[in-house]
Amino acid sequence: MERLYRKLASYDTEDVYPFHMPGHKRNPALLDGFFPAAQDITEITGFDNLHHAEGILLETARRASEVYGTRNTYLGVNGSTAMILTAISACVQRNGKILIARNSHRSAYHAMYLRGLTPVYLYPQKTSGMELNGSLRPEDVEKALQEDPEIEAVFVTSPTYDGVMSDIRGIAEAAHRRNLPVIVDEAHGAHLVFSGFFPESAIRSGADIVIHSVHKTLPSLTQTSLLHVCSDRIDEELVRRFLTIYQSSSPSYILMASIDACMEIIQERGKELFREYTENLEKARKRLSGLKYFRLIDPARDYADTVFDCDRSKLIISTRDTGMTGQELSVLLREEYRLEMEMSAPSYVVALTSVGDTGEGFARLTEALADIEAKKAGEWALREDEAGKNIPDEELQPPGQVLSMAEAMEGRTRKVLLSESEGCVSAEFMLLYPPGIPLITPGERISGQLLQNVRRYLQQGLTVTGLKDRENRRIEIV
Ligand SMILES: Cc1ncc(COP(=O)(O)O)c(C=O)c1O
Repeated sequence: MERLYRKLASYDTEDVYPFHMPGHKRNPALLDGFFPAAQDITEITGFDNLHHAEGILLETARRASEVYGTRNTYLGVNGSTAMILTAISACVQRNGKILIARNSHRSAYHAMYLRGLTPVYLYPQKTSGMELNGSLRPEDVEKALQEDPEIEAVFVTSPTYDGVMSDIRGIAEAAHRRNLPVIVDEAHGAHLVFSGFFPESAIRSGADIVIHSVHKTLPSLTQTSLLHVCSDRIDEELVRRFLTIYQSSSPSYILMASIDACMEIIQERGKELFREYTENLEKARKRLSGLKYFRLIDPARDYADTVFDCDRSKLIISTRDTGMTGQELSVLLREEYRLEMEMSAPSYVVALTSVGDTGEGFARLTEALADIEAKKAGEWALREDEAGKNIPDEELQPPGQVLSMAEAMEGRTRKVLLSESEGCVSAEFMLLYPPGIPLITPGERISGQLLQNVRRYLQQGLTVTGLKDRENRRIEIV
């Protein structure tokens, strides 16, 4: 069968006049040459329908399934966000209960809100001395499932934004003993299966649904994603129902074709590309390991007691021994060296790497860090470690859930000063970023300890987000 992206490319030469959407009518005079208007079509004859795929889109999804070795795979044009909404909705009945990692992406919270679910939270282990979430433990999953027979599914993220992986095999065994499905948000791990350099993907570790943002770590356009069904514990009728609800009824063919082209390049040149990439990556990791003040963190080695494994495509560069914060390093790299990092935290920055990187790109990063060290070594040798002091070290106590998220968000609410909100029930989320765990979710009671922690985080210059009041002075309560 034809490839979607080729069919789309050649359609432009067929001189077919569009009396259909989109409104730009594939007319380059109205949409500057920067946009691929000629390939931006709708569900015209021969191009199938994502929500009732039986032609070229079904074939594209089947190819992706073949590439990943899954039971079935669905194409996504609304990111992992829509796939997470779908997976949770399909695996847990309305008003049901889910065992869910507290460090989940906000789309998982939104799924619980929309479906009226009751969460039972799993907390990741804490890495001491660094604002990095550790892994989730199978024994905690086992315990939670033993204690609550009403739980219908388990939802975890692995790898995290920082590349921290959890023992999905162990987690799946605990869930499958009760015949419960495990959904793994592997948004950051679409590349894992393509090289032995990386840890095993959840697809091969017993997960029932695995979700990928193709755009995050593979050569594909932003918003592209895949939902992989890996077992017969999943009702695919429900998966299809919710995909139709959460995804656009006008999915972009450019996005879908970019998934197709990505799958083809991996099928045809994946081995060679990943070999070259991982060789460059390994070289860069070795060079970074040789630096004196910047420290390349390997979470699975440096925090072996709390991290099960890690995806070494993420370059985590600690600034703890430099007297510089991660944010300061990030600004310096951007302004002086034209290098934009994926993320910065008080004591580290994360450089996201992928098969799209070049040897030259890696060299620019390693040389920039070596250059900064050479210029600042004298100053740093005399300075105390300051960044290390900015790390939240106390345990984040799980707050008590008093109302459901929907009850809290949709009930009568009012705003009070955060400093006077102790004992009230929050109608808003508050997140500490990083590590990205919600400090409080709607429906949970605000404790004195929480307020004390938030005050300290803000004094330390950490990022607390989520409240409508961007200055974090007032909070909406029920
Ligand atoms: C862990 C995790 N899951 C899911 C998502 C959502 O992915 P997308 O942006 O593709 O919708 C993100 C986005 O950053 C993420 O970090």
